[in-house]
Amino acid sequence: MRITTTLLLLLAVSGFTRAGTSNSLMDLTPDGSKLLVANTDTGTVSIVDVKTRHTLAEIPVGDHPEGTAWVGNGPLGLVTVYGDDKVLIVNADSKKIVKAIPVSDEPYGIVTTPDGKFAYVSHDYPGTISEIDIAAQKVTRTFPAGSGIRGIALSNDGRTLYVTEFFTANLIALDRQTGQIVDRWNGYSTDNLARHVVLHPKRGKAYLSHIRSRITAFDARGSIFPQLSFCDLDKKPEGEKRRRSLAMDTFNNVYVVTNPWEAALSPDGKKIYTLYAGTNDMNISAVLDDDYVEIERIGNAVTVGKHPRAIRVSPDGKEVYIYNTLDYAVAVFTGDMRRKLATIPVATPAHTPEWRRGKELFQSALQPMGSARWIACSSCHPDGLTDGRVWENPEGNRRTPSLFGLAHTHPIHWSADRDEVQDFEYTIRGKLMKGRGLVNGPLEPRKGFAPGAELNEKLAGRSADLDALALYTNAFPMRLSPHILAPGKLSPEAERGKKLFFSTATQCATCHSGPYYTDGKKDPPFNLHDVGTGVHKREKMGPKFDTPTLLGVYRVAPYLHDGRAPTLRDVLTTANPKDQHGKTSHLKPGEIDDLVAFLKSLPYELPPEQTPNTVRHFLRLKPITTPPAGGAGN
Ligand code: HEC
Ligand code: HEC
Repeated sequence: MRITTTLLLLLAVSGFTRAGTSNSLMDLTPDGSKLLVANTDTGTVSIVDVKTRHTLAEIPVGDHPEGTAWVGNGPLGLVTVYGDDKVLIVNADSKKIVKAIPVSDEPYGIVTTPDGKFAYVSHDYPGTISEIDIAAQKVTRTFPAGSGIRGIALSNDGRTLYVTEFFTANLIALDRQTGQIVDRWNGYSTDNLARHVVLHPKRGKAYLSHIRSRITAFDARGSIFPQLSFCDLDKKPEGEKRRRSLAMDTFNNVYVVTNPWEAALSPDGKKIYTLYAGTNDMNISAVLDDDYVEIERIGNAVTVGKHPRAIRVSPDGKEVYIYNTLDYAVAVFTGDMRRKLATIPVATPAHTPEWRRGKELFQSALQPMGSARWIACSSCHPDGLTDGRVWENPEGNRRTPSLFGLAHTHPIHWSADRDEVQDFEYTIRGKLMKGRGLVNGPLEPRKGFAPGAELNEKLAGRSADLDALALYTNAFPMRLSPHILAPGKLSPEAERGKKLFFSTATQCATCHSGPYYTDGKKDPPFNLHDVGTGVHKREKMGPKFDTPTLLGVYRVAPYLHDGRAPTLRDVLTTANPKDQHGKTSHLKPGEIDDLVAFLKSLPYELPPEQTPNTVRHFLRLKPITTPPAGGAGN
C-alpha cells in the first residue's frame, strides 16, 4: 500500500514537472536547467544553460530541424531533421551528434516518454507516427495517424498520444500500446494550420492553437482568425460537446493577434500562454476549472520579439522562455510576463540579411504589410506551402498554390496577371491586407479583371524591402517527392506512367514541358491554355490559365485553379470529360493509376537551379546536410 502511494506521488510529481510534453522547436529539461533549440533556417541545434543564460553549443544538424525533445534531464536530446528524414541523438555534454536514425518522411514534432525509453515522432507528409527505441537507436514501429500530422503530445500517464492534423486542426488520439486510433475531436471546416497541441497537467484537456481560414471573405478583417480550441479528453463521444473554440482576437478586445503558433501551460495548470508569430506578441490567460468559459484573459498582449515560434515555462512557473526565431535568440521573461530578464543569442543568423528581411515581411501582419493586423502572407502560404484552401477571390475561385520553385515558374497567378513577386505590392495595399505598402507613390490602377496594371507596373528595384520580400518568396527550396524509391529512381508503376506522360497519345508534355513541367514564361506573351476547366459561375478571368508546375503536385490537393478536382485521378478523368486537358479518355484504369503514380513521384530528381526562365535576382540557398555522427559542435 505504502509503495503504491509513493509511486502515485512520484507520478504526480513527474506529471507536474512535465507539463507541456508536446512538440516544439524548443524543449526544456524537466529540472529546468537546459534548453534544446532547433534553428530551422540555420540548420543547427543549440544547447542553452538556463542559469548562466549562456549558449553552450550550436551544433550543425542538417536541413530544417523542426522538433526537439530531451531524454529525461539529458545529457541526451533528440532532434527531428525534416528535410533529411532523420532523427538525431545529440549529447549535451560532449556537444556531439551520437547517432543519426533514418526515419520516414518529414519528421516534424517529437516527444519522449518520462522514463526516457521511447520517443514518438509526427510525420507531416503523409501523416504517420514513428516510435523510436532510444537505447537501441532505431525505429521500432510506424503507424498511420491522419493527414499532415504535426502536433504531438503524450498523456501524463504515458498511455495515449494526441496528434493534430495541419489542414483540419483535427485532434486524434492513439493508443500507445497498439498504435490504433482510439478517438478524435474534429475541428470546424474553417479550422486550419494546427502545428501543435498541449495537454493540461492534471485535467483531461487538450489545447490547440491554430487559425481559421474563412475562404468566403476577401477582406483584411474577415478572412483569417486566431483561435484556441479546447478538447475534453475524458468525455465520451456520445452527444456531448467535447470541443470548443475561442477566437483570440475578440478575446483581446480591439487588439488583434495573428498566426497563433504554439501555447504552453504553467506547470500548475493555472495559466496558458499563447504565442502569435504574425504580430510578435503573446497573451496570458487564466485556465478556469470550468468546461464552459475555459479561460479568462489576464492583462494585455505583450510584445516579445521577432517572429516567436516556441515557448516553454520553467518547472517553478517563475520564468518563461520564448524563442524569437528572427532575433535568433531566446528571450527570458518573468512568469507574469511583466519583465524581460534576459536575451540569449542562440543561433547564427541564416542566409543573407536580404533573405532575413524578406522572411520578416512575409511572416508579418504589422505595418507596412497590414493595417488591421489580421493577415500575413504566411497565413495562407505557411513557410511556402499551400494552406490547402480554395479562396473565393473577386476574380474567381483560386486554390492557394505552393511556392516551391517559384523563381523558375513565372508568370505568377493561375491567370498570369503578374510577372514579378514585387507585384504583391498590390495585394499588400489592397482589400485583403490594407497595408501601407513598401514603395512610395501611387500604382497604376487596376481596371476590371483583365490582366494589365500589374504587368505594366515595373516594381523591381524600387524598394529594398519589396525586393527582399520577392527574394525570400522566390527562394523556397524544392524537395524530392516521398513517393520515389530513391533519388532518381521511380517505382515500376511510375516508370510506366512516365512513358504515358511523354507520349504523343496523351500530349501531357506539350504544355507541362521542361525541367519544371510547365511552358510558362517569365516575359510576355505568356502561353495560356483553355483546358476546359474555366466554367465556374464566379470566374471572371478564365477560361485560359497558365500551365502550373507539376513538381510537388502530390501534396497540393485539391487540384486545378478552383480546386474542382479532389484527387489527381479526378484531374485526368471527371475533370477532363472532353479530352481538352491532354488526351485521357482512351486510357484504361490501370494506365490512369500509372500516370497518377508518375505525377506523385515529381520531383524524382532535383530540377536545375538555373534555367532561361529563372528570375534575375535569385538566391540559391546553400544546401545543409547532416554531418556524420560524432561531428563536434562549435
Ligand atoms: C488569404 C490568403 C492569401 C494571402 C494572405 C496571400 N496569398 Fe498568395 N495566394 C493565395 C491564393 C488563393 C493564390 C492564387 C491566386 C491566383 O492565382 O489568382 C495565391 C498566389 C500567390 C502566388 C503565386 C504563385 C504561383 O505559382 O503563381 C504568390 C507568389 C503569392 N501568392 C505570394 C503571396 C505574398 C507575397 C503574399 C503577402 C503579400 C500573399 N501571397 C498573401 C492566397 C493568399
Ligand atoms: C494544352 C496544355 C496542357 C496539356 C496538354 C496538359 N495540361 Fe495539365 N494543365 C494545363 C493547364 C493550363 C492547367 C491549369 C488548369 C486549371 O487550373 O484550370 C493544368 C493543370 C494540371 C494539373 C493540376 C495541377 C495543380 O496544381 O492543381 C495536373 C495534375 C495536370 N495538369 C496534369 C496533366 C497531365 C497528366 C496531362 C496529360 C494527360 C496534362 N496535364 C496535359 C495545361 C495542360
